[in-house]
Amino acid sequence: MTVPAEERRPAHFTLTEDEVAAKFPNRARGYELLRRLGSPRHIVAPMVDQSELAWRILSRRYDAHLCYTPMFHARMFGDEKAKYFREHWQTSPEDRPLVVQFCANDPDALLAAARRIEDAADAVDLNLGCPQHIARRGHYGSFLMEDWDLISRLIRRLHEGLAIPVTAKIRVYPDVAKTVAYARMVEAAGAQIITVHGRLREQKGHKTGLADWAQIRAVKDAVKVPVFANGNILYYEDIQRCIDATHADGVMSAETNLYNPALFSGKCLPTWQLAEEYMDICRTIAPTNPSYIRGHLFKLFRYSLPIHTDLRQQLVEARTADDFAAVVAAIKTRLVADAAAQSPPFDPDCVEVDEFGYRKYPHWICQPALRFEHDKNCSQSKRLLNEAEQKPPAEQPAPELSSGEAGSGPSADGAEPDCDAKRQKTS
Ligand SMILES: Cc1cc2nc3c(=O)[nH]c(=O)nc-3n(C[C@H](O)[C@H](O)[C@H](O)COP(=O)(O)O)c2cc1C
Repeated sequence: MTVPAEERRPAHFTLTEDEVAAKFPNRARGYELLRRLGSPRHIVAPMVDQSELAWRILSRRYDAHLCYTPMFHARMFGDEKAKYFREHWQTSPEDRPLVVQFCANDPDALLAAARRIEDAADAVDLNLGCPQHIARRGHYGSFLMEDWDLISRLIRRLHEGLAIPVTAKIRVYPDVAKTVAYARMVEAAGAQIITVHGRLREQKGHKTGLADWAQIRAVKDAVKVPVFANGNILYYEDIQRCIDATHADGVMSAETNLYNPALFSGKCLPTWQLAEEYMDICRTIAPTNPSYIRGHLFKLFRYSLPIHTDLRQQLVEARTADDFAAVVAAIKTRLVADAAAQSPPFDPDCVEVDEFGYRKYPHWICQPALRFEHDKNCSQSKRLLNEAEQKPPAEQPAPELSSGEAGSGPSADGAEPDCDAKRQKTS
């Protein structure tokens, strides 16, 4: 005997899909939402302390089609008396399309937080990927992966109560069948777009390794809503490789976007040019927390600061936007001189690759963070080497060989990558 659909619905689904549609007649679903977002192919990931307004403006100028805010802590964001909202929420009319991300473990707190920004955003995303200790202690992010009922209740609360659509960003399980069942549960609860970061919860810090694009493809094949793929983007050409491998509707980048905010444009630009533009945005359009600015400049100049060590100290000591702009001007002078002294001059159309398939850029050119200290003997390097060995040398155009994890080891500024919420004091 088959069980009627109504009886199979979890008890926390208080409305049917028809009732939800009638309650929010203008709210887009699935592929209609994707269309209203402009069918984005290039997506800036949610990044604590780093995908702030000024960075989003910069990234959009270089062909980012959709941006996510950093993860905000729902309970604190929704608290009308706390300073958290004032200190963290920043947007502007041109900051669209925009997805606002929260971590949460209380459906009502999540809805209250989301309602504060529903007029200023295109969707609200639930973070189900944060693997940090603070997320374990606070019971959110990837540590909800053992509590599907709570995940379903969180998503459902927004789906039944919020004027804008809900989306979710997930990690994968070792077992692809479980990942697929998980994604289907997230979809059934009401998520209208699913971003799949193709790494396990354990893949963080020096264990980051490669994201599994096959798992992303399995999710894409299993759900009806759009899927964004996340992981392994180092170079512009990787975006198409990722779409070919996963069939995803869009590609999200985190770490490479930080080291090369021109990634999505495919342009090969000097670091100082992007740094100058970012500082101009911070000074004229979007006042930015000095610690975020410092984090960005350390990443942009990652390969130059070990050479110009005196400027590194100036960056540590800078406090105001004017201080940071002065350091950027000083670094620019040095880098322009370094570029002029290079013989033969750097030619972006003729970049050498090393034995692992990584491109050899001069230190003043925006480039992904590579972590050879970790990678020499790990699967990432071996995989790249295998790819290289499988193709006869004549068929090895440099771009196709590029791959690997977007570096996730200790960053140049010593900050822990991934959704390191430590500085958010949000446990
Ligand atoms: C500095 C930094 C902060 C991050 N913060 C968040 C966050 O707030 N929310 C989230 O879902 N993921 C966060 N992540 C994870 C990224 O969104 C992304 O899933 C992960 O870095 C893999 O993408 P990548 O290989 O392009 O770096 C963060 C990553 C970095 C590097």
